[in-house]
Amino acid sequence: MDTIQIKDKRFTTFIPEEKILTEVARVADEINRDLSGSDPLFVSVLNGSFMFTADLMKRLDIPCEISFVKLASYEGTSTTGRVKELVGLNDDISGRTVVIVEDIVDTGLTMQRLLETLRAKNPKDIRIATLLVKPDKLQVDLKIDYVAMNIPNDFIVGYGLDYDGYGRNFRDIYIVED
Ligand code: IMP
Repeated sequence: MDTIQIKDKRFTTFIPEEKILTEVARVADEINRDLSGSDPLFVSVLNGSFMFTADLMKRLDIPCEISFVKLASYEGTSTTGRVKELVGLNDDISGRTVVIVEDIVDTGLTMQRLLETLRAKNPKDIRIATLLVKPDKLQVDLKIDYVAMNIPNDFIVGYGLDYDGYGRNFRDIYIVED
């Protein structure tokens, strides 16, 4: 087991890259099967989902487009409850099938806010694809269509996810110690 130090916290390996990529490939297969012929627009939520988005997109073989939004709600290891939109969506999504690509659904507040913003633009359908869900922390009722993995409530970093801006570059996912 590998251990890393980021600022004041130690983390140990939790989900190795190989397992992550197996689950990402399964999600890609589900999307290829469900959305062929619907010309989806993938909306990737920066910063955390950049690695998941790249690995997912490489495994999609249906005609599709991608765009990015940037939201933030976390400071350190906990959510502030306020969701800031740092970069919005400029694409016309009316009548379009949209797939939100997120790194992790924790309380679900970020996702709820994004859904409200996108629904106001009259898409045909909105689906959610997330790498991770912490089911025990969900505070809102969300229908999540594609989930790579469910995880416990602990704070994690790596594969795009950060602790105070650091740790996004690791290819495995690490869990905080104690
Ligand atoms: P939510 O609004 O509480 O669902 O939080 C969603 C956002 O919080 C995610 O997009 C992540 O950026 C961040 N987040 C939640 N849990 C973790 C974690 O364990 N590690 C790193 N970031 C996290």
